[in-house]
Amino acid sequence: MARHLLLPVVMLVISPIPGAFQDSALSPTQEEPEDLDCGRSEPSARIVGGSDAQPGTWPWQVSLHHGGGHICGGSLIAPSWVLSAAHCFMTNGTLEPAAEWSVLLGVHSQDGPLDGAHTRAVAAIVVPVNYSQVELGADLALLHLASPASLGPAVRPVCLPRASHRFVHGTACWATGWGDVQEADPLPLPWVLQEVELRLLGKATCQCLYSQPGPFNLTLQILPGMLCAGYPEGRRDTCQGDSGGPLVCEEGGRWFQAGITSFGFGCGRRNRPGVFTAVATYEAWIREQVMGSEPGPAFPTQPQKPQSDPQEPRENCTIALPECGKAPRPGAWPWEAQVMVPGSRPCHGALVSESWVLAPASCFLHPSSSDSPPRDLDAWRVLLPSRPRAERVARLVHHDNASWDDASDLALLQLRTPVNLSAAPRPVCLPHPEHYFLPGSRCRLARWGRGEPALGPGALLEAELLGGWWCHCLYGRQGAAVPLPGDPPHALCPAYQEEEENDSHWSLLCQEEGTWFLAGIRDFPSGCLRPRAFFPVQTHGPWISHVTQGAYLEDQLTWDWGPDGEETETQTCPTHTQHGACGLRPEAAPVGVLWPWLAEVHVAGDRVCTGILLAPGWVLAATHCVLRPGSTTVPYIEVYLGRAGASPLPQGHQVSRLVISIRLPRHLGLRPPLALLELSSRVEPSPSALPICLHPAGIPPGASCWVLGWKEPQDRVPVAAAVSILTPRICHCLYQGILPPGTLCVLYAEGQENRCEMTSAPPLLCQTTEGSWVLVGMAVQGSRELFAAIGPEEAWISQTVGEAHFLPSSGSPHWPTGGSNLCPPELAKASGSPRAVHFLLLLTLLIQS
Ligand code: ARG
Repeated sequence: MARHLLLPVVMLVISPIPGAFQDSALSPTQEEPEDLDCGRSEPSARIVGGSDAQPGTWPWQVSLHHGGGHICGGSLIAPSWVLSAAHCFMTNGTLEPAAEWSVLLGVHSQDGPLDGAHTRAVAAIVVPVNYSQVELGADLALLHLASPASLGPAVRPVCLPRASHRFVHGTACWATGWGDVQEADPLPLPWVLQEVELRLLGKATCQCLYSQPGPFNLTLQILPGMLCAGYPEGRRDTCQGDSGGPLVCEEGGRWFQAGITSFGFGCGRRNRPGVFTAVATYEAWIREQVMGSEPGPAFPTQPQKPQSDPQEPRENCTIALPECGKAPRPGAWPWEAQVMVPGSRPCHGALVSESWVLAPASCFLHPSSSDSPPRDLDAWRVLLPSRPRAERVARLVHHDNASWDDASDLALLQLRTPVNLSAAPRPVCLPHPEHYFLPGSRCRLARWGRGEPALGPGALLEAELLGGWWCHCLYGRQGAAVPLPGDPPHALCPAYQEEEENDSHWSLLCQEEGTWFLAGIRDFPSGCLRPRAFFPVQTHGPWISHVTQGAYLEDQLTWDWGPDGEETETQTCPTHTQHGACGLRPEAAPVGVLWPWLAEVHVAGDRVCTGILLAPGWVLAATHCVLRPGSTTVPYIEVYLGRAGASPLPQGHQVSRLVISIRLPRHLGLRPPLALLELSSRVEPSPSALPICLHPAGIPPGASCWVLGWKEPQDRVPVAAAVSILTPRICHCLYQGILPPGTLCVLYAEGQENRCEMTSAPPLLCQTTEGSWVLVGMAVQGSRELFAAIGPEEAWISQTVGEAHFLPSSGSPHWPTGGSNLCPPELAKASGSPRAVHFLLLLTLLIQS
């Protein structure tokens, strides 16, 4: 019903634009008499980066209300007509009913009594037929008022430009509105109309700026009928809620409306000036809509025509570069601020704008009375690089959650006098909430809070960001969804090149295109788990910019997500055990470590066996490799971790331990195949040393399995050979029952059988469908196909190694145990020959199904 009622209204109000882009198609002659005085304002005299307007300065500015609140701006062009933007009135391609809107005229502050202001109902809203979305232009609308506005000093119409009117590149004009004062930061009470001076940008300049990859790596085509105004460096702009409002330029003592606030990318961002609807382009369309209404809008002749073509720098525009985050060299941070509070150690923070320093709130909270920080700000000083004197502090603003949430342990200090930005001091860049620091980003740790005295000059902690999956899953909960790129991460994990000093607090600076961002603060107090995870700063971007009104939030500068950047499937974290994460493999690329549980076991200086890290103090190896037959003495054994990578990590990531004891299970008869090596001290989890998972019931269902070994025992480059594990029955039959119980037989994938050398006794691993790696066996001496199973030794392993990561058994084991002992006669004959086995296996499977 409602739809049918709406239809005629829509048809009535949408009209075509006759000759919209042809100059003066319907223009009257220049000598046309003007019957309405326009564009005059009281001779007194947000918008982003703007300030409060004086009452009466912009008497044509109106506020358009819908549902009881301000939605858009508009301008009075005639007693009964208001000009605004089409997108203000459209939802899902449909025009909202005019009756739902009202126009406030003569308002200054929208809070409290609206003295001198009056309201008009809207009789009709007209939008060009070819309007579809803001990026495609024609974003204008005419509102026919139900009754004429009463004109007075606070309510007057603006002049409209004729199609032939030329606004010159570089002209200073003004935009006005009650819109947001920054992205997602509404105008505060008492909602005083804001004004901002913007410079007109010629089409070529604007196109040049918008062709620079910007936020979200997007660029934009500037179309005819659009006009840009603002600055390459941003920071002054219109914003959400200003739409429909006017951009006016003074010419010959009158104000002409050059543009209608239409859209932009974010607000006040670098190289992203505001885009306005060029009013002059639509002269004919406007005239046609208002035809017959008296008095209509005024289109005065341009007082002084600029000569021929307004000169504008062609093509090559001046692109603005980030003003924040430039450091002469890592470690010489021009934003490093030391806050000196009498009676306590200096607190390290970062300069984020001309007058604000960000630092941990915990520096300033009294441990005893956490909610009443000392207020003797007079005695506080801030030391900034290259400043002759210490700065004084005007104000301290705590984050609301500062005293109970470590991730929000932040405070902002306002300096009494803003500093002039130069090479130093210079603010650090802050990320927007949607920033995605790419895995592999180059980062540094910088002092934060009550840090210890400076590190040696060479000991600047260099770090590389690890992938989100790994970081999140190492710390996150099992089954938890990993935040997608562009969603705020829960944590940022850097892999350091060197061990950090224990117990100091750090912030995480990450670099993009040579520009430094403050990416994270306060590493998690996560016990000994490495890498430490940092709380992301990007979540606090809106709070910081709200408080500081001008901190340098900078766009993401690197967008090369690499080949797998596209696949943004939702990932979840694999099962954790009660001892934390196991079997997680960091993505291959940035750090280069592929197999964090693969250990080199150097035995008595004469051979190297494979070992697998089961827990911080325990490695599992094959008995036959670490203990020579018949020998009764424990040899001298060293274990190395953090070496098993395609591109080995710097020295700092490699660890070595001595073996202090070798434990064997009690077996009757045969020498047990599996040995547990106790290390001299713990190896805490890190990207280069992380324990593997174990599975009590043998092979996890649906897993894919690999023999993980070395190409050569000398160079020890890790290689994995894909295998399938045969059912116990086929295995038993192939080997005619001569196998010790708990032996697994594998079948190599085509061409994979000779990839690993076997003297080092490599492990057999399977990756579960969730992504965890599980150790299922260790090679049996003298065989490529036989492995001693881990599952049957669960009791012994968990008794010896308290922290072994046994995954919960997921119901039925992969292979049914027991079963018939009858062997297909062909299989018995074929023992040993892989090709024949393959064939027979297929045959058996076919018969079984
Ligand atoms: N579309 C916005 C509105 O509805 C106006 C955005 C202007 N943005 C800008 N960056 N200039 O209010």
